[in-house]
Amino acid sequence: MKSIAWTKYGPPEVLKLKEIEKPIPKDDEGLIKVIATTVTAGDCEMRRLDFPLYLSFPMRIYIGFFKPKRIRVIGQELAGEIVEVGKDVKSLKVGDQVFGTTGFKFGAYAEYICLPEKSKDMSGPLTHKPTNMSFEEAAAVPTGGLEVLHFLRKGNIKRGEKILINGAGGSIGSFGVQLAKYFGAEVTAVDSAEKLEMLGSIGADHVIDYAQEDFTEKENTYDVIFDVIGKSSFSGSLRSLGENGRYLIANPNLIKIIRALLNGGKGNKKIVTETTIQKTEDLQFLKELIEVGKLKTIIDRKYPMEEIVEAHRYVETGEKIGNVIITP
Ligand SMILES: NC(=O)c1ccc[n+]([C@@H]2O[C@H](COP(=O)([O-])OP(=O)(O)OC[C@H]3O[C@@H](n4cnc5c(N)ncnc54)[C@H](OP(=O)(O)O)[C@@H]3O)[C@@H](O)[C@H]2O)c1
Repeated sequence: MKSIAWTKYGPPEVLKLKEIEKPIPKDDEGLIKVIATTVTAGDCEMRRLDFPLYLSFPMRIYIGFFKPKRIRVIGQELAGEIVEVGKDVKSLKVGDQVFGTTGFKFGAYAEYICLPEKSKDMSGPLTHKPTNMSFEEAAAVPTGGLEVLHFLRKGNIKRGEKILINGAGGSIGSFGVQLAKYFGAEVTAVDSAEKLEMLGSIGADHVIDYAQEDFTEKENTYDVIFDVIGKSSFSGSLRSLGENGRYLIANPNLIKIIRALLNGGKGNKKIVTETTIQKTEDLQFLKELIEVGKLKTIIDRKYPMEEIVEAHRYVETGEKIGNVIITP
């Protein structure tokens, strides 16, 4: 089968189209024909092994110290069709249309992948695809959608509250805006100028171009600040929170983690920096929201698997609005 081999840590060119053996499902796994997957900022960081210090060392130990060894194919989310099931699989059958994440198994940049019916050993959740979405639209939901759901719940977002989402125009943030609106919040979305129109179209009440305006220098305060990319000023964001405000940092660097620990318990503001736990019931919740029309996927470009290098180059330009899709 076709796959994208990851041979070295480095630029997009380290990804090479390669024929590998089609996998065989274990007793508790389904064999999925991948119909769509994505290129996210996270995939590019993984390819380069470009992580904050506290993550890059454990990631090297997990993947391979000098070059990728344990993980040979990247790609972390997908939509596709079940073509074979192991003998113990109960909730999936041949022909089912599914979507999900690979978790730490990775490997979605391939024609086929085996995933367990129930997530285990660091694999991610898998469930039936929303009936009203294409495979391309569904493939982009799991990673961003689950991250957003986790953080908004940790932030205990309530109807009528004001939330600011920093880095709102990408894979995670575009689901963040829609989910925050679903929870009844008034949403301010911050990103670069060319993404603001899209952000208004998916429900943002206010938009800010971060190149023109630093939200932390304005008088406005928020109940929740959700920093998807971890680039907001730590003390400025705390200043921009009202009484009992919550500062959610999805991708903090080590300094922010330490500052969050040192600030913990001080005053009435809460700081959340933890890692998302991806749960099947949350993916099913996202599927239900999609099916009642509350959540949609913003797709910027689609590439065939043969053009994976171009797709990675495009995502690295930062111009991507929403999501980039790959079709094997
Ligand atoms: N999606 C995933 O699968 C995944 C997985 C693990 C970790 N992550 C991490 O989560 C972060 C966000 O992921 P994502 O997939 O949503 O990324 P994304 O699609 O690239 O979106 C990030 C958005 O933030 C904007 N931005 C950049 N600098 C900014 C600033 N200073 N202020 C406000 N907005 C700014 C970018 O716009 P411009 O480029 O135009 O500036 C872009 O629209 C990434 O850094 C990644 O490390 C993502």
